[in-house]
Amino acid sequence: MINSKKRVLVLEGSPRQGNTTVATDWVLAGLGKKGVEVIRLRVCDLNINGCQECEGCVTEKKRAGCQQEDDMLEVYDLLVDSDLVLWTSPVFCWGVTSQIKAVVDRCFALLNGENLLKGSRWAVVLTAGGDHFDGADLAVEMFRRLAEFGQVEYLGHYVVPNCGRPQELKRRLDVARAARRFGQELRQALLK
Ligand SMILES: Cc1cc2nc3c(=O)[nH]c(=O)nc-3n(C[C@H](O)[C@H](O)[C@H](O)COP(=O)(O)O)c2cc1C
Repeated sequence: MINSKKRVLVLEGSPRQGNTTVATDWVLAGLGKKGVEVIRLRVCDLNINGCQECEGCVTEKKRAGCQQEDDMLEVYDLLVDSDLVLWTSPVFCWGVTSQIKAVVDRCFALLNGENLLKGSRWAVVLTAGGDHFDGADLAVEMFRRLAEFGQVEYLGHYVVPNCGRPQELKRRLDVARAARRFGQELRQALLK
């Protein structure tokens, strides 16, 4: 039987299982399981180098063509084949973690040539120690602009500001509700 489930790739960018994991769990609960197949990768557990700017990908039209042989090769296939990519990260120094930024930069190999990202759909979940304007805004802007550049449909973001310890976040029921609602919205967009 043909697998008609929508494929969701979660690229989780925190080096620890903390606030971002909690928020991601809630969003995925809202997304639900029926008709959806989720692959959840903790990027920090993978071996993914930064882009070496060798330009080896520039001449390759039909595939990523990246010259580096690391775990990104598998992520390339998943990025292209997924119906939704959910990027998640804590805000680190007015941006995302260096581990998730490495994946973002390596996406460049998919944008060269035929643009293998065209028509993909992305959404973003961020947690931040500060408010929306202490860096979360800039991290969102990076994803939004990269999506625009890559002709990726940007489905939106959910930012949890003013995070303390993960145990505290777990008690914030308003955040849990809003995160689940965001997941439900993603589900609607995915299944319509
Ligand atoms: C190295 C580092 C840099 C950070 N930089 C920022 C920042 O620029 N803006 C902000 O709002 N929070 C910042 N934070 C706070 C984290 O975004 C926040 O604690 C987040 O919820 C941690 O998520 P995690 O528990 O999933 O790792 C920083 C934390 C660390 C460890």
